[in-house]
Formats: sequence, structure tokens, C-alpha cells
Amino acid sequence: MLNIAVFGSGRGSNFKSLLDAMDAGRVRDVRCVLVVSNNADAGIFDHARRHGIAVLQWSRKMYASDEAYAAAMLAALREARADLIVLAGYMKFLPAPIIAAYRNRILNIHPALLPSFGGTGMYGLHVHRAVLAAHEPLTGATVHIVDEEYDHGPIVIQRTVPVLASDSPESLAARVLAMEHHILPEAVRLFAEGRITVEPGRTHVHIRSSQE
Ligand code: GRF
Repeated sequence: MLNIAVFGSGRGSNFKSLLDAMDAGRVRDVRCVLVVSNNADAGIFDHARRHGIAVLQWSRKMYASDEAYAAAMLAALREARADLIVLAGYMKFLPAPIIAAYRNRILNIHPALLPSFGGTGMYGLHVHRAVLAAHEPLTGATVHIVDEEYDHGPIVIQRTVPVLASDSPESLAARVLAMEHHILPEAVRLFAEGRITVEPGRTHVHIRSSQE
């Protein structure tokens, strides 16, 4: 059984897609043990409560120092016995001690084809506006392993979505989000099946086929 902790800041639709996939048996042997948000009103908390999952509101303001902030989170993750952290729309930086403690065990979902349209300021509709402004024929969604650089670590799954001439940032965001809802559960499934290996210096993880 893989225990996951899910972090999110807003609506929580990616978390819901993951819960749905788990409930439907498309993602097996995975249990969500903790949901974390910086935002007390996050939709992700509603989904968690409906599923009886422990929630934790956690923000830097609650602690006297960066060290205390990271230590409290690590203690909560360890107490919950979290094996994998899933960032599903989490808008804050994870402190470096958490990234180090969970090296190669943190996934993030991003609404573009990384390394393009990632990094500081590239969140929400900003991403889709930038894609449209650049007249890209294709955009997409990416699940990657989190390292110390924002939107940077090795790619686990990346899928393209066509950009239509009629697209607004909102219509494009909706189509990309639908793709996100497929690939995040898929990435968690691959992780739970032990099929992901991170090789130093590579831009993509190695995914073992189910026959290997
Ligand atoms: C998604 O587009 C995700 O890629 C990005 O933030 C958004 C979160 O949406 N990191 P939701 O909260 O999962 O609905």
C-alpha cells in the first residue's frame, strides 16, 4: 500500500480526479493519508473531508522560522506515514528540507509542456495566455518529479493538447485540465506499481513496462 499526501491551494479538481480513479479501482493499493493546504477555504479540503481524510492547514505565517515551518511539516508527513507527496495545484514553494527528505518522491502537475511555459509567474491562466500569445500549435500537461528548481525535475508523463484558433485562455485551460485529470492518476499508478526510476541527469524518468 502506498500512502500519499496531497497538497493543493484551490479548487481541487485534480485531487478529485485522483480520488475518483482510486474509488473506481483504476489506481490500486494507494491510500490518501493527508491533505495539506495553505488556504483554509481550498476546495481540496472539501473533497478530503467527504472522504474522511485528515486535513492540515499549513502556512509559513504560523511559524517563527523557515526551519520550524519545514520541521512541523516533516513531522506531520512522517506521522501520517506518507510515502509520496502529490502537488495538485499547490501554489507555494515546498521547503528544501521536505524536498530532500522526499527526494524523487514528490510529483507535481503543470498545465503546459514543460520545460516550456513553466517557472515563476507561470500558473493558472497566465500559462494559457502565454501559450496563445506565442501562437503555439500545441500545448499540454506535464507530471514531473519535484526538485529544488521550480517546475523543473524529470518528466514522468507529458501529453499534448491542440491549441485551436478559436481558443480563449479559459477554453484552453479547460481542455488542458481535462488532460491533467487523466495523467495525474496515471502517474500515481505508475509510482504505486514501482515502475518509475529516476536516473541522474536525465530529463525524463525511466518507466518500466508492465511486462518487464
Ligand atoms: C491545475 O491546472 C494544475 O496544473 C496547476 O494548478 C491547477 C490546479 O487545479 N498546478 P485544481 O485545483 O486541481 O482544480
